[in-house]
Parts: sequence; C-alpha cells; structure tokens
Amino acid sequence: MSESPTIRPAALVDSPRLAELCGVLGYPAEPQEFARRLRRVLSRSEHVVLLAEFGPSRIAGWLHAAAHDYLECNQQCEILGLVVAAEDRGKGIGRHLVAVAEAWARDRGFEQVTVRSNVMRLESHPFYERMGFTRVKTQHVYRKRLQGIRTEEGDDV
Ligand SMILES: CC(C)(COP(=O)(O)OP(=O)(O)OC[C@H]1O[C@@H](n2cnc3c(N)ncnc32)[C@H](O)[C@@H]1OP(=O)(O)O)[C@@H](O)C(=O)NCCC(=O)NCCS
Repeated sequence: MSESPTIRPAALVDSPRLAELCGVLGYPAEPQEFARRLRRVLSRSEHVVLLAEFGPSRIAGWLHAAAHDYLECNQQCEILGLVVAAEDRGKGIGRHLVAVAEAWARDRGFEQVTVRSNVMRLESHPFYERMGFTRVKTQHVYRKRLQGIRTEEGDDV
C-alpha cells in the first residue's frame, strides 16, 4: 500500500518548494516574490494554504482556498489554487487536500465550495467531478492593461 501524505497548513519556511510547485501549475514565480505573496496570504484569517507532505520534508502539493465577500450573495468559499507534483499524481493527494479544505470550509459554516478551472486544464475536470463537484457555468475572463501606472522610479508607463 502506498504511503499517505500528511496534510498541514503551510508556513513561510515552506515557501521555496511551494514556489516551485506554483511553476508546475503554470505560474512561475521568483522565490522572493512568492514568499512575499505567501506572507500576505498567511496573515489573513479568511485564507488557508494547505500542503501535502511525505515524511518530514517532501512537499508534493498545495491548495489555497479563501472566503470571499459579495453583495449579490452570501460569503463564498473558493479554491483559488491546487497543484500536485507531476510525479505524485494519482496517489490521492489532490483528494486529501480538497477533503481538508472542505473541512476548513465546513467549520466556518460554508454550505458549498467553488472552484474555477481553466478549460485547458483537462485533468482537473474529471478530478473535480470525482470529488463531487458539479459544473455550474462557463465564463469568459476579460482583462484590461492599465495605463499611467507609476513605477518605483516615478515614471508613467
Ligand atoms: C488535478 C490534480 C490536482 C489531481 O491531483 P491528484 O493527486 O493526481 O488526484 P488524486 O490522485 O487525488 O485523484 C482523485 C480522484 O480523481 C481522479 N483523477 C485524478 N486525475 C484524473 C485524470 N487526469 N483523469 C481522470 N480522473 C482523474 C482519480 O482517478 C481519483 O479518482 P478515484 O479516487 O475514484 O480513483 C493534479 O492532476 C494536478 O495538480 N494537475 C495540474 C494542476 C491543476 O490542474 N490544478 C487544478 C487547478 S483548478
């Protein structure tokens, strides 16, 4: 039987490995920049970062979830990021991470958890369905580059 990972909250000291896995997710991040983001997220009680670890130091995946406020509906819990190292997929790690995130949400009184998954992330779709999630909508994402942002040197770009 394969070894089960331990799921625990992330700490700042885990940042280098979580940054590496962020690259695996498709968002390469400089270690210092990632550490800055992680510090900010860890300081917020409405966010949780969980990691899956084999033994004392082999981190194989992470999940970030948060509670969001909306005017048009009650507060919602959303999985914002989830990744398992390529060599550790298919071992139940994603399932464990999602189960602990669900327990975190349940403890806070949430009745449901949402996740948005890019249509390109083909492996995640059957995964979420196996986890009991139902596809409820498909969206377009719009983005606009803002002009006139001041750089640290004081220039407008
Ligand atoms: C999606 C992802 C997190 C799944 O993690 P994982 O640890 O491999 O998943 P698990 O081993 O816990 O699988 C749980 C269940 O989902 C199923 N599943 C997982 N990946 C699957 C796939 N590619 N195709 C079909 N079913 C899959 C498993 O068979 C398993 O079902 P079972 O319990 O009935 O056997 C992982 O593939 C990954 O990190 N992908 C890249 C990043 C990504 O897409 N993240 C999601 C962003 S929204």
